[in-house]
Parts: sequence; structure tokens; C-alpha cells
Amino acid sequence: MAKIMVLHGPNLNLLGKREPEVYGRETLADINGKIISFAEERSSSVETFQSNHEGQLIDWIHEAMSWADGILINPGAFTHYSYALRDAITASGLPCIEVHISNVQSREAFRRKSVLAAVCIGSISGFGWKSYILGLRALLDYLEDNDPA
Ligand code: DQA
Repeated sequence: MAKIMVLHGPNLNLLGKREPEVYGRETLADINGKIISFAEERSSSVETFQSNHEGQLIDWIHEAMSWADGILINPGAFTHYSYALRDAITASGLPCIEVHISNVQSREAFRRKSVLAAVCIGSISGFGWKSYILGLRALLDYLEDNDPA
């Protein structure tokens, strides 16, 4: 059974209240519930985490090296400038998929650059909360396709 760590970065605790025209009306708890249901359908398990602090996210990535098979991350604004998060993903050796609720390519110029994308196996952006489901599906497919057993 694949074990996935789902990481939500800064300000995503405010989902539902935060710019709903951009990020939708679902709360983080709603979205985590949908992620968990999808994982169960795929006979896999997820642990979900959210932090507004870069160091906390990095510590969780380090810990995931001992229990997770892959990482699904919405790094929030850290996407655009956190080399420390990028190094943590690389150091973990775990396959990682970056997801965004909004279409970052259609927004402000600073959001068009991700410093994490190059160390992820892929990125999904612009499908609202369903970006997480699409990302999880891609990660589980990747793990199945690359299962050494
Ligand atoms: C986001 C996009 C980021 O640019 C922004 O800073 C976020 C959310 C998204 O899910 O669309 O906090 O990652």
C-alpha cells in the first residue's frame, strides 16, 4: 500500500475564506477529506499536514524519508522562492508532485516561476481543489509504474 505525505504550505489554512474567487469555497478540511477518500479508492493512504513555516515543512519532508513513498505538495508562495524547500525535496529522494489550486501561469509574473518544479516529477495547476486529486492520481500511477517488486 503506497503511503503519501500531503503537504500544504503557507496561508492554505485559510482556504474557504481566502480569496474564494481564486481558491474556491472548500476549506482545507474539505479538501483533505476528498484527498483521503480518493486515496482509499486507490487502496493507498495519505497523511496530511499544513504549516505556515518553511522550516516545519522541511522537517516534515525529512521525516517522510522514513515512512512515505511519495510527496504531494502545494507549497503556496514558497513555490516561487524557497531554495531550502527545493533542497529538502531533492535530499529526500522521494518522488514529489507540485500542485496549485489556481492557474499560476495566468496570474502575476512572480507566480509564473517555480523553483521547485525542476525537482518534482510533474506539476498540476489551475483545476481548483481537483488539482490535488489529479496530482495524487499522477503520483500513485507513477509509484505503480516504478514499483521495483
Ligand atoms: C497557490 C499559488 C501560489 O502562488 C500562492 O502563493 C498560494 C496558493 C495555489 O494553490 O494556487 O498560496 O499555491
